[in-house]
Amino acid sequence: MPRKINIAIDGHSSCGKGTLAKNLAKDLGYLFIDSGAMYRAVTLYLIRNQIGLDEVHRDPSVLGNIAIHFEYDPEAGFFFTHLNGENVETLIRGMEISSRVSEVSALKEVREFLVAQQQKIGEEKGVVMDGRDIGTVVFPDAELKIFMTAEPDVRARRRYLELQEKGIPADYDDILHNIRERDVMDSTRDISPLVQAPDAIVLNNTDMTREEQAQIALTWAKGVISMG
Ligand code: DC
Repeated sequence: MPRKINIAIDGHSSCGKGTLAKNLAKDLGYLFIDSGAMYRAVTLYLIRNQIGLDEVHRDPSVLGNIAIHFEYDPEAGFFFTHLNGENVETLIRGMEISSRVSEVSALKEVREFLVAQQQKIGEEKGVVMDGRDIGTVVFPDAELKIFMTAEPDVRARRRYLELQEKGIPADYDDILHNIRERDVMDSTRDISPLVQAPDAIVLNNTDMTREEQAQIALTWAKGVISMG
């Protein structure tokens, strides 16, 4: 039995972290955890229960009522996010959550609550987790850390095509502006900003296909696993 490792994948918005992490987990038979989905689920809970951020700050114990878990659906080949037993995968991807999740994820109490859970999930090893602070805060000892990036215009073009394919109207310049704005916000926030861990390997996928990236990441992972 090859040893199991933890793999941390961090990087900018819309650079394909989730897809890469998902493929890698599938190829290795590991658990895939989308940490962004956890921030989104907390955001949904707070909105539904009309709990303001100041309230969470005053009394973080309100977060104790939130149970998040992931359930694998073999037909979809995907892990669905569950909030207190309800499949909320579709709900947390909507615009309302997308526009509120940044402020929720900037709250210290929310981060402490979720980081503790993420670290627990990683105790058994065999986890691929993607996010912004996985290699720096959640799994500082991860055996493999990948920092993903791509030029903003390439990310914007991919996102634009993705939306077009789904029939969602979109403006390329708006998307590019939003990506640039989020890069700055993610990298400059006070708590757990997006920074590259010193021991992370950079994967700049500006000129790569999905298959090429997946292959490179898998080769890295297998190399690290066999070194153990
Ligand atoms: O990856 P995503 O867009 O689904 O992430 C949703 C939000 O959560 C985004 O604003 C960044 C934030 N996030 C975070 O602060 N830390 C993480 N580990 C993952 C996501």
